[in-house]
Amino acid sequence: MSGRIFLSPPWTAGEERSLVEEAFDSGYVAPCGPFVDRFERELEALSARRYAVAVSSGTAALDLLADCLSIGPRTTVIAPSLTFIATVGPSFHRGAQLAFVDSCATGNVDMPLLEEALASTPGEKVFIGVDLYGRPLDYAAAAALCDRYGAKFVSDSAEAVGAAFCGAPAGSGGIAGVYSFNGNKIVTTSGGGAVVTDSAEIAARVRKLSTQSRENVLWYEHREAGYNYRMSNILAAIGLAQLSKLARILAVRRENRERYESVFAGLPGAFLPGVAGENHWLTVRLLDSVEERDGLIAALEAADVETRPVWKPLHLQPVFAGVRMFGGGVCEDLFRRGVCLPSGTGMSDSDFSRIEKAVRRFYDNRRT
Ligand SMILES: Cc1ncc(COP(=O)(O)O)c(C=O)c1O
Repeated sequence: MSGRIFLSPPWTAGEERSLVEEAFDSGYVAPCGPFVDRFERELEALSARRYAVAVSSGTAALDLLADCLSIGPRTTVIAPSLTFIATVGPSFHRGAQLAFVDSCATGNVDMPLLEEALASTPGEKVFIGVDLYGRPLDYAAAAALCDRYGAKFVSDSAEAVGAAFCGAPAGSGGIAGVYSFNGNKIVTTSGGGAVVTDSAEIAARVRKLSTQSRENVLWYEHREAGYNYRMSNILAAIGLAQLSKLARILAVRRENRERYESVFAGLPGAFLPGVAGENHWLTVRLLDSVEERDGLIAALEAADVETRPVWKPLHLQPVFAGVRMFGGGVCEDLFRRGVCLPSGTGMSDSDFSRIEKAVRRFYDNRRT
Protein backbone atom coordinates (compact mmCIF):
# COMPACT_ATOMS: atom_id res chain seq x y z
CA MET A 1 0.00 0.00 0.00
CA SER A 2 1.50 3.36 -0.86
CA GLY A 3 -0.04 6.36 0.87
CA ARG A 4 -3.56 7.47 1.59
CA ILE A 5 -5.98 7.95 -1.29
CA PHE A 6 -7.82 11.19 -0.57
CA LEU A 7 -11.30 12.16 -1.68
CA SER A 8 -10.35 15.08 -3.90
CA PRO A 9 -6.84 16.38 -3.28
CA PRO A 10 -5.36 19.31 -5.19
CA TRP A 11 -3.72 18.41 -8.51
CA THR A 12 -0.83 20.79 -9.01
CA ALA A 13 1.19 19.07 -11.73
CA GLY A 14 1.51 22.03 -14.05
CA GLU A 15 2.56 25.66 -14.12
CA GLU A 16 1.45 26.34 -10.53
CA ARG A 17 4.97 26.56 -9.09
CA SER A 18 6.41 28.70 -11.87
CA LEU A 19 3.49 31.16 -11.81
CA VAL A 20 3.79 31.49 -8.01
CA GLU A 21 7.50 32.24 -8.49
CA GLU A 22 6.61 34.81 -11.13
CA ALA A 23 4.19 36.44 -8.68
CA PHE A 24 6.95 36.54 -6.06
CA ASP A 25 9.45 37.98 -8.49
CA SER A 26 7.01 40.67 -9.56
CA GLY A 27 6.79 41.90 -5.95
CA TYR A 28 3.01 41.50 -5.82
CA VAL A 29 2.87 39.32 -2.72
CA ALA A 30 -0.36 41.05 -1.78
CA PRO A 31 -4.16 40.83 -2.01
CA CYS A 32 -4.06 42.63 -5.34
CA GLY A 33 -1.91 42.45 -8.45
CA PRO A 34 -1.84 41.34 -12.07
CA PHE A 35 -2.62 37.67 -11.42
CA VAL A 36 -5.78 38.56 -9.51
CA ASP A 37 -6.87 40.72 -12.46
CA ARG A 38 -6.09 37.97 -14.96
CA PHE A 39 -7.81 35.35 -12.83
CA GLU A 40 -10.93 37.51 -12.67
CA ARG A 41 -10.96 37.99 -16.48
CA GLU A 42 -10.73 34.19 -16.92
CA LEU A 43 -13.57 33.63 -14.47
CA GLU A 44 -15.72 36.08 -16.41
CA ALA A 45 -15.13 34.04 -19.57
CA LEU A 46 -15.74 30.73 -17.77
CA SER A 47 -19.03 31.86 -16.22
CA ALA A 48 -20.19 33.93 -19.23
CA ARG A 49 -20.68 36.81 -16.79
CA ARG A 50 -19.64 40.43 -17.24
CA TYR A 51 -17.88 40.68 -13.87
CA ALA A 52 -15.92 38.40 -11.55
CA VAL A 53 -14.48 39.40 -8.18
CA ALA A 54 -12.00 36.97 -6.60
CA VAL A 55 -12.19 36.66 -2.81
CA SER A 56 -10.70 34.60 0.01
CA SER A 57 -13.26 31.74 -0.01
CA GLY A 58 -16.61 30.59 -1.32
CA THR A 59 -18.08 31.35 2.10
CA ALA A 60 -16.75 34.92 1.90
CA ALA A 61 -18.34 35.23 -1.56
CA LEU A 62 -21.71 34.09 -0.14
CA ASP A 63 -21.34 36.49 2.78
CA LEU A 64 -20.70 39.43 0.48
CA LEU A 65 -23.64 38.48 -1.71
CA ALA A 66 -25.85 38.24 1.37
CA ASP A 67 -24.89 41.85 2.11
CA CYS A 68 -25.57 42.93 -1.48
CA LEU A 69 -29.03 41.33 -1.35
CA SER A 70 -29.74 42.96 2.06
CA ILE A 71 -30.36 39.57 3.61
CA GLY A 72 -31.43 40.11 7.21
CA PRO A 73 -34.12 39.26 9.76
CA ARG A 74 -36.92 40.20 7.34
CA THR A 75 -35.66 37.85 4.62
CA THR A 76 -36.51 34.20 4.19
CA VAL A 77 -33.65 32.33 2.56
CA ILE A 78 -34.79 29.16 0.81
CA ALA A 79 -32.12 26.58 -0.02
CA PRO A 80 -31.84 22.87 -0.72
CA SER A 81 -31.36 20.84 2.43
CA LEU A 82 -28.78 18.62 0.74
CA THR A 83 -25.75 20.91 0.71
CA PHE A 84 -22.78 22.09 2.74
CA ILE A 85 -23.59 24.45 5.60
CA ALA A 86 -21.78 27.36 3.93
CA THR A 87 -24.69 27.74 1.47
CA VAL A 88 -26.78 29.26 4.26
CA GLY A 89 -24.23 30.07 7.00
CA PRO A 90 -23.80 33.76 6.09
CA SER A 91 -27.59 34.26 5.84
CA PHE A 92 -28.05 32.55 9.21
CA HIS A 93 -25.47 34.86 10.79
CA ARG A 94 -27.37 37.85 9.40
CA GLY A 95 -30.52 36.69 11.19
CA ALA A 96 -32.47 35.52 8.12
CA GLN A 97 -35.30 33.02 8.43
CA LEU A 98 -34.37 29.78 6.68
CA ALA A 99 -36.47 27.22 4.80
CA PHE A 100 -35.10 24.01 3.32
CA VAL A 101 -36.29 21.99 0.32
CA ASP A 102 -35.87 18.30 -0.50
CA SER A 103 -33.95 16.89 -3.47
CA CYS A 104 -35.02 15.07 -6.61
CA ALA A 105 -33.28 11.82 -7.61
CA THR A 106 -30.10 13.59 -8.85
CA GLY A 107 -29.64 15.26 -5.47
CA ASN A 108 -30.44 18.73 -6.80
CA VAL A 109 -33.44 20.67 -5.51
CA ASP A 110 -36.89 19.25 -6.22
CA MET A 111 -38.60 21.89 -8.41
CA PRO A 112 -42.25 21.20 -7.42
CA LEU A 113 -41.27 21.42 -3.74
CA LEU A 114 -39.27 24.57 -4.43
CA GLU A 115 -42.42 26.05 -5.94
CA GLU A 116 -44.38 25.05 -2.83
CA ALA A 117 -41.75 26.71 -0.62
CA LEU A 118 -41.77 29.90 -2.68
CA ALA A 119 -45.56 30.02 -2.86
CA SER A 120 -46.00 29.59 0.88
CA THR A 121 -43.31 32.08 1.92
CA PRO A 122 -44.62 35.63 2.29
CA GLY A 123 -42.44 38.76 2.14
CA GLU A 124 -38.81 39.15 1.06
CA LYS A 125 -37.29 35.92 -0.14
CA VAL A 126 -34.08 34.70 -1.70
CA PHE A 127 -33.48 31.28 -3.22
CA ILE A 128 -29.87 30.04 -3.06
CA GLY A 129 -29.63 27.27 -5.65
CA VAL A 130 -26.86 24.68 -5.43
CA ASP A 131 -25.17 22.62 -8.18
CA LEU A 132 -24.74 19.58 -5.96
CA TYR A 133 -21.42 17.76 -6.42
CA GLY A 134 -20.97 19.64 -9.70
CA ARG A 135 -24.38 18.61 -11.16
CA PRO A 136 -25.65 21.82 -12.68
CA LEU A 137 -29.05 23.04 -11.58
CA ASP A 138 -31.63 23.94 -14.24
CA TYR A 139 -31.19 27.70 -13.80
CA ALA A 140 -33.91 28.62 -16.29
CA ALA A 141 -36.49 26.58 -14.37
CA ALA A 142 -35.36 27.96 -10.99
CA ALA A 143 -35.31 31.54 -12.30
CA ALA A 144 -38.82 31.19 -13.76
CA LEU A 145 -40.15 30.00 -10.39
CA CYS A 146 -38.33 32.76 -8.51
CA ASP A 147 -39.73 35.37 -10.92
CA ARG A 148 -43.25 34.02 -10.51
CA TYR A 149 -43.11 34.31 -6.71
CA GLY A 150 -41.03 37.47 -6.42
CA ALA A 151 -37.87 35.84 -5.02
CA LYS A 152 -34.27 36.81 -5.75
CA PHE A 153 -32.19 33.94 -7.09
CA VAL A 154 -28.44 33.33 -6.72
CA SER A 155 -26.45 30.20 -7.52
CA ASP A 156 -24.03 28.59 -5.09
CA SER A 157 -21.83 26.93 -7.70
CA ALA A 158 -19.01 26.29 -5.23
CA GLU A 159 -18.72 22.66 -6.35
CA ALA A 160 -19.52 23.16 -10.02
CA VAL A 161 -16.66 25.07 -11.69
CA GLY A 162 -16.55 23.93 -15.31
CA ALA A 163 -20.03 22.38 -15.36
CA ALA A 164 -22.82 23.62 -17.67
CA PHE A 165 -26.52 22.89 -18.03
CA CYS A 166 -27.86 23.15 -21.61
CA GLY A 167 -25.08 25.61 -22.43
CA ALA A 168 -25.48 27.69 -19.24
CA PRO A 169 -22.17 27.60 -17.36
CA ALA A 170 -22.21 26.94 -13.61
CA GLY A 171 -22.43 30.28 -11.85
CA SER A 172 -24.43 31.93 -14.63
CA GLY A 173 -27.81 31.41 -12.89
CA GLY A 174 -29.69 34.24 -11.23
CA ILE A 175 -28.42 37.62 -10.08
CA ALA A 176 -24.99 36.26 -9.19
CA GLY A 177 -23.07 33.03 -8.78
CA VAL A 178 -20.44 31.85 -6.32
CA TYR A 179 -17.39 29.62 -6.86
CA SER A 180 -15.13 27.95 -4.31
CA PHE A 181 -11.45 27.26 -4.94
CA ASN A 182 -10.93 25.37 -1.71
CA GLY A 183 -8.21 22.70 -1.73
CA ASN A 184 -10.67 19.87 -2.41
CA LYS A 185 -12.38 21.54 -5.39
CA ILE A 186 -11.88 20.82 -9.06
CA VAL A 187 -9.90 24.05 -9.44
CA THR A 188 -8.10 25.26 -6.34
CA THR A 189 -6.17 28.29 -5.18
CA SER A 190 -5.53 26.43 -1.88
CA GLY A 191 -8.34 28.55 -0.46
CA GLY A 192 -10.39 31.05 -2.41
CA GLY A 193 -13.66 31.93 -4.03
CA ALA A 194 -15.36 34.35 -6.39
CA VAL A 195 -18.59 36.18 -7.08
CA VAL A 196 -19.62 36.26 -10.75
CA THR A 197 -22.42 38.54 -11.93
CA ASP A 198 -23.74 40.68 -14.78
CA SER A 199 -24.56 43.51 -12.38
CA ALA A 200 -21.98 46.31 -12.34
CA GLU A 201 -23.52 47.48 -9.08
CA ILE A 202 -23.13 44.13 -7.31
CA ALA A 203 -19.60 43.63 -8.63
CA ALA A 204 -18.55 47.09 -7.42
CA ARG A 205 -20.18 46.57 -4.03
CA VAL A 206 -18.58 43.13 -3.56
CA ARG A 207 -15.19 44.60 -4.44
CA LYS A 208 -15.58 47.53 -2.07
CA LEU A 209 -16.94 45.47 0.85
CA SER A 210 -14.15 42.94 0.41
CA THR A 211 -11.53 45.68 0.86
CA GLN A 212 -12.82 47.11 4.16
CA SER A 213 -15.24 49.41 2.31
CA ARG A 214 -12.48 51.90 1.83
CA GLU A 215 -13.50 55.07 -0.03
CA ASN A 216 -11.51 56.06 -3.07
CA VAL A 217 -9.49 58.86 -1.46
CA LEU A 218 -5.88 59.22 -0.30
CA TRP A 219 -6.49 58.44 3.36
CA TYR A 220 -8.51 55.63 4.95
CA GLU A 221 -12.09 56.88 4.75
CA HIS A 222 -15.01 54.57 5.65
CA ARG A 223 -18.71 55.39 5.43
CA GLU A 224 -19.52 51.83 6.47
CA ALA A 225 -17.56 48.86 7.89
CA GLY A 226 -16.44 46.26 5.37
CA TYR A 227 -14.46 43.03 5.38
CA ASN A 228 -10.98 41.82 4.49
CA TYR A 229 -11.97 39.16 1.97
CA ARG A 230 -9.70 39.80 -1.03
CA MET A 231 -7.76 37.03 -2.76
CA SER A 232 -3.97 37.22 -2.71
CA ASN A 233 -2.00 37.61 -5.94
CA ILE A 234 0.02 34.49 -5.02
CA LEU A 235 -3.12 32.37 -4.78
CA ALA A 236 -4.52 33.81 -8.00
CA ALA A 237 -1.33 32.58 -9.70
CA ILE A 238 -2.17 29.03 -8.60
CA GLY A 239 -5.75 29.52 -9.83
CA LEU A 240 -4.58 30.67 -13.26
CA ALA A 241 -2.36 27.60 -13.65
CA GLN A 242 -5.29 25.41 -12.62
CA LEU A 243 -7.74 27.05 -15.03
CA SER A 244 -5.34 26.52 -17.92
CA LYS A 245 -5.76 22.75 -17.31
CA LEU A 246 -9.51 22.78 -16.78
CA ALA A 247 -10.39 20.82 -19.94
CA ARG A 248 -7.95 18.09 -18.91
CA ILE A 249 -9.23 18.07 -15.33
CA LEU A 250 -12.83 17.67 -16.52
CA ALA A 251 -11.85 14.84 -18.86
CA VAL A 252 -10.00 12.97 -16.10
CA ARG A 253 -12.89 13.41 -13.65
CA ARG A 254 -15.27 11.97 -16.27
CA GLU A 255 -12.91 9.04 -16.81
CA ASN A 256 -12.80 8.47 -13.04
CA ARG A 257 -16.58 8.21 -13.00
CA GLU A 258 -16.41 5.67 -15.88
CA ARG A 259 -13.73 3.64 -14.10
CA TYR A 260 -16.00 3.24 -11.12
CA GLU A 261 -18.44 1.38 -13.42
CA SER A 262 -15.98 -1.51 -13.55
CA VAL A 263 -14.99 -1.21 -9.87
CA PHE A 264 -18.64 -1.86 -8.91
CA ALA A 265 -19.66 -4.05 -11.88
CA GLY A 266 -22.07 -6.79 -10.76
CA LEU A 267 -22.27 -5.48 -7.17
CA PRO A 268 -25.40 -4.27 -5.37
CA GLY A 269 -26.29 -0.56 -5.41
CA ALA A 270 -26.22 2.15 -8.07
CA PHE A 271 -24.57 5.46 -8.84
CA LEU A 272 -26.28 8.75 -8.05
CA PRO A 273 -27.95 9.61 -11.37
CA GLY A 274 -25.89 12.07 -13.39
CA VAL A 275 -26.87 15.35 -15.04
CA ALA A 276 -25.65 16.25 -18.54
CA GLY A 277 -22.84 18.80 -18.31
CA GLU A 278 -21.78 17.93 -14.75
CA ASN A 279 -18.12 18.27 -13.82
CA HIS A 280 -17.93 14.91 -11.96
CA TRP A 281 -16.37 16.59 -8.94
CA LEU A 282 -17.23 13.59 -6.76
CA THR A 283 -18.58 10.19 -7.80
CA VAL A 284 -21.37 9.07 -5.46
CA ARG A 285 -22.34 5.43 -4.96
CA LEU A 286 -25.73 4.61 -3.45
CA LEU A 287 -25.81 1.43 -1.34
CA ASP A 288 -28.75 -0.57 -0.08
CA SER A 289 -28.73 0.53 3.57
CA VAL A 290 -27.01 2.73 6.12
CA GLU A 291 -25.35 -0.34 7.56
CA GLU A 292 -23.88 -1.22 4.16
CA ARG A 293 -22.76 2.41 3.72
CA ASP A 294 -20.88 2.41 7.01
CA GLY A 295 -19.41 -1.03 6.31
CA LEU A 296 -18.04 0.03 2.92
CA ILE A 297 -16.63 3.25 4.38
CA ALA A 298 -14.87 1.22 7.12
CA ALA A 299 -13.55 -1.34 4.61
CA LEU A 300 -12.09 1.42 2.42
CA GLU A 301 -10.68 3.23 5.45
CA ALA A 302 -8.88 0.00 6.40
CA ALA A 303 -7.22 0.19 2.98
CA ASP A 304 -6.28 3.85 3.69
CA VAL A 305 -8.88 5.19 1.28
CA GLU A 306 -10.80 8.32 2.24
CA THR A 307 -14.55 8.39 1.54
CA ARG A 308 -17.41 10.38 3.05
CA PRO A 309 -21.16 10.00 3.43
CA VAL A 310 -23.23 12.30 1.21
CA TRP A 311 -23.91 15.68 2.89
CA LYS A 312 -26.02 15.31 5.99
CA PRO A 313 -29.13 17.34 5.11
CA LEU A 314 -29.27 20.73 6.78
CA HIS A 315 -32.73 20.12 8.25
CA LEU A 316 -31.20 17.25 10.27
CA GLN A 317 -28.40 19.42 11.65
CA PRO A 318 -28.86 20.31 15.33
CA VAL A 319 -28.05 23.97 14.61
CA PHE A 320 -31.08 24.20 12.29
CA ALA A 321 -33.57 22.30 14.47
CA GLY A 322 -37.06 23.71 13.90
CA VAL A 323 -36.32 25.24 10.47
CA ARG A 324 -39.20 24.71 8.04
CA MET A 325 -38.60 21.79 5.65
CA PHE A 326 -40.44 21.03 2.43
CA GLY A 327 -40.40 17.26 1.88
CA GLY A 328 -37.29 15.51 3.20
CA GLY A 329 -37.54 11.80 2.40
CA VAL A 330 -35.31 11.89 -0.70
CA CYS A 331 -32.34 13.76 0.76
CA GLU A 332 -32.54 11.77 3.98
CA ASP A 333 -32.37 8.58 1.93
CA LEU A 334 -29.41 9.87 -0.12
CA PHE A 335 -27.59 10.68 3.11
CA ARG A 336 -28.32 7.22 4.55
CA ARG A 337 -27.20 5.34 1.45
CA GLY A 338 -24.71 7.59 -0.34
CA VAL A 339 -20.92 7.43 -0.25
CA CYS A 340 -18.64 9.95 -1.98
CA LEU A 341 -15.73 8.07 -3.55
CA PRO A 342 -12.18 9.30 -4.18
CA SER A 343 -12.36 11.32 -7.39
CA GLY A 344 -9.09 13.24 -7.56
CA THR A 345 -7.61 14.33 -10.87
CA GLY A 346 -4.30 12.64 -10.05
CA MET A 347 -5.71 9.15 -9.36
CA SER A 348 -3.58 6.33 -10.75
CA ASP A 349 -4.30 2.81 -12.00
CA SER A 350 -2.94 1.43 -8.75
CA ASP A 351 -5.27 3.70 -6.75
CA PHE A 352 -8.24 2.27 -8.63
CA SER A 353 -7.04 -1.31 -8.21
CA ARG A 354 -6.57 -0.78 -4.44
CA ILE A 355 -10.11 0.61 -4.21
CA GLU A 356 -11.53 -2.22 -6.32
CA LYS A 357 -9.79 -4.87 -4.19
CA ALA A 358 -11.15 -3.34 -0.97
CA VAL A 359 -14.66 -3.04 -2.43
CA ARG A 360 -14.71 -6.63 -3.70
CA ARG A 361 -13.29 -7.98 -0.42
CA PHE A 362 -16.04 -6.12 1.44
CA TYR A 363 -18.80 -7.70 -0.65
CA ASP A 364 -17.13 -11.17 -0.57
CA ASN A 365 -17.05 -11.00 3.24
CA ARG A 366 -20.73 -10.01 3.34
CA ARG A 367 -21.66 -13.05 1.26
CA THR A 368 -19.78 -15.52 3.51
C1 LIG B 1 -22.01 23.99 -1.79
C2 LIG B 1 -20.90 24.74 -1.13
N1 LIG B 1 -21.09 26.03 -0.83
C3 LIG B 1 -20.12 26.78 -0.29
C4 LIG B 1 -18.89 26.25 0.00
C5 LIG B 1 -17.89 27.11 0.69
O1 LIG B 1 -16.72 27.29 -0.01
P1 LIG B 1 -15.34 27.58 0.77
O2 LIG B 1 -14.91 26.30 1.39
O3 LIG B 1 -14.42 28.04 -0.31
O4 LIG B 1 -15.61 28.64 1.76
C6 LIG B 1 -18.64 24.92 -0.31
C7 LIG B 1 -17.34 24.28 -0.10
O5 LIG B 1 -16.60 23.97 0.54
C8 LIG B 1 -19.66 24.12 -0.87
O6 LIG B 1 -19.47 22.82 -1.13
